[in-house]
Amino acid sequence: MYTQSMDLPQKKEQSASAPGAPENPEYQREFDARLAQGEFIEAKDWMPEAYRKTLIRQISQHAHSEIVGMLPEGNWITRAPTLKRKAILLAKVQDEGGHGLYLYSAAETLGISRDEMFEALHTGKAKYSSIFNYPTLTWADIGVIGWLVDGAAIMNQIPLCRCSYGPYARAMVRICKEESFHQRQGFDLLMTMMQGTNEQRVMVQDAVNRWWWPSLMMFGPHDSESTHSERGKQWGIKRISNDDLRQKFVDATAPQADILGVTLPDPNLKWNEKQERYEFGNIDWDEFWNVVNGNGHCNRERLAARVSAWQDGEWVREAALAHANKRAAKHPDGRVGEQAAPSMETAPMQTAPTAGST
Ligand SMILES: [Fe+2]
Ligand SMILES: [Fe+2]
Repeated sequence: MYTQSMDLPQKKEQSASAPGAPENPEYQREFDARLAQGEFIEAKDWMPEAYRKTLIRQISQHAHSEIVGMLPEGNWITRAPTLKRKAILLAKVQDEGGHGLYLYSAAETLGISRDEMFEALHTGKAKYSSIFNYPTLTWADIGVIGWLVDGAAIMNQIPLCRCSYGPYARAMVRICKEESFHQRQGFDLLMTMMQGTNEQRVMVQDAVNRWWWPSLMMFGPHDSESTHSERGKQWGIKRISNDDLRQKFVDATAPQADILGVTLPDPNLKWNEKQERYEFGNIDWDEFWNVVNGNGHCNRERLAARVSAWQDGEWVREAALAHANKRAAKHPDGRVGEQAAPSMETAPMQTAPTAGST
């Protein structure tokens, strides 16, 4: 449904959109009017530099989070307790890699190269979601990541399916479908463990105790402290505030904890009948900023893993480039007898392959 309505025709004046194009009051008015009407901005449309830069920052950090997010769960692929769980976990970790690739492609439409984005990640200039700097200590962590971390990701990402930048919004439609599978497999894994032995139930509760608060931190600082929120709202990038999303997450998740039979580690968590929402305790923001600033359990380990993957993959990139050059030399007219892959800019999402989605 979203896919059709977002597959907009291209508009005029597209050459004015090159990165660094001068600001122009007439274009600005048209841009503002289109945002006000809820239209999508496409890669070749004119856009203010600050909008472009904000999107590059957000989409590339989102991409980095997907790729780094493969690491804590990847650790458990060889230790999955059954063939079924191993197959599910493999599919999920591959999905996360795919999410990273869509998002890097979406960011590239804004005039940044993938090499530049990786450089920013590897040198610590670009951030990624802090949640992935926590360690995965037991198999129950894999279930809790699916249930809580992917659950929080869905809450954050559903509004992005209607964000004002078309390539980002379209990527998010596909990603959200897969995140939904991730959340369900986590809940299913935990439900299985909760019906098992007492040791398994203790393991689940311990994992919930460790991941609950970091999951709430995934929505970012309070609205009053969030530097990017206001502008993001004006530009149609951020449609629901950090605090409102966090509240929706708690309201959706607390009843699921009851079904599982686990206790969320917050003595202040209680249903407010009058306001029809859960009240919950204060987040430890010192911990949040400590991890954001590089001092979490696994910050160094995660970054080192990404840097060494990049270095180890150098021969693959060289081989791919040599192959592409050879093909280009053989087919100077650019036709190689195969259909070109659809681009992020114009491809309807339903035409993409659907491996791993529900
Ligand atoms: Fe993902
Ligand atoms: Fe996910």
